[in-house]
Amino acid sequence: AEFLSVCDKIAPMVEEALAPLIGTEYGAAELCMGADNTPTERLDKIAEDIILAVFRSRKVCRAVLSEEAGLVTDIGGESGLAYLDPVDGSFNAGAGIPFYALSIGLSEGGVMTAGYVRNLANKETFTAIRGKGAFLDGRPIRVSKKAELNISAMSIYARAPEMISLLEKGMRTRRGRKLGASALELCYVACGRLEGFLDLRTTLRITDAAAGMFICEEAGGIVTQPDGSPVAFPDDVCAGRPLLAANPVIHAKVSEILR
Ligand code: IPD
Ligand code: CA
Ligand code: CA
Repeated sequence: AEFLSVCDKIAPMVEEALAPLIGTEYGAAELCMGADNTPTERLDKIAEDIILAVFRSRKVCRAVLSEEAGLVTDIGGESGLAYLDPVDGSFNAGAGIPFYALSIGLSEGGVMTAGYVRNLANKETFTAIRGKGAFLDGRPIRVSKKAELNISAMSIYARAPEMISLLEKGMRTRRGRKLGASALELCYVACGRLEGFLDLRTTLRITDAAAGMFICEEAGGIVTQPDGSPVAFPDDVCAGRPLLAANPVIHAKVSEILR
């Protein structure tokens, strides 16, 4: 809870610093290569610097695994590893599309204990604490109860051959919604705006997914590999995994199709 309140202090600072950069070429300019082997944009770097500075001053954890900086070990806290994506959906932020988020997950001894995902454009804040459920702006959320694929909305990421094979296997959903910030899309599954999220590209990393997966699970969602087997992300900003997150009924149906 203390961790989440520090996140709540940080979010407005990041929003304020990013405001003049959103939807600008200056903000989206690539400064260098990030630890995750994708370019760091100016807005990523500015957000990350603010967050790490507050983490250090509050000694919120022992270390941070961050998308741009990699493993940061001088935070000063006694325990806890935080998974940080300062801006998930950088393309959206640079393009001025209001769907990009600050994503922070906390783990203790290898077990996720808290998750914080904040849409920095509209301030919607998704949180979860282990065993206590998930929340949107402080109100409890649950995954949707829709049970049929033909009335479902899903976010599906796949390259051409994977997409062809999906269609060949008969996978059809009513509405495709590919929104461009996986942390938030996982939270949209958590609160029932989407029935599911499927990424077959093996490019999703722990920094993108840790907080959103945890929030989704605390809201009653099931998160696994696409075939339904358990998913384990290594503590490595470069290691990508495929992922399926959905309400339990849709999860069973999709993983069955993909097995
Ligand atoms: C990206 C977003 C996007 C997903 C990509 C990620 P970034 O993160 O989560 O939705 O499709 O795989 O890399 O680069 O904007 O932090
Ligand atoms: Ca990301
Ligand atoms: Ca990012």
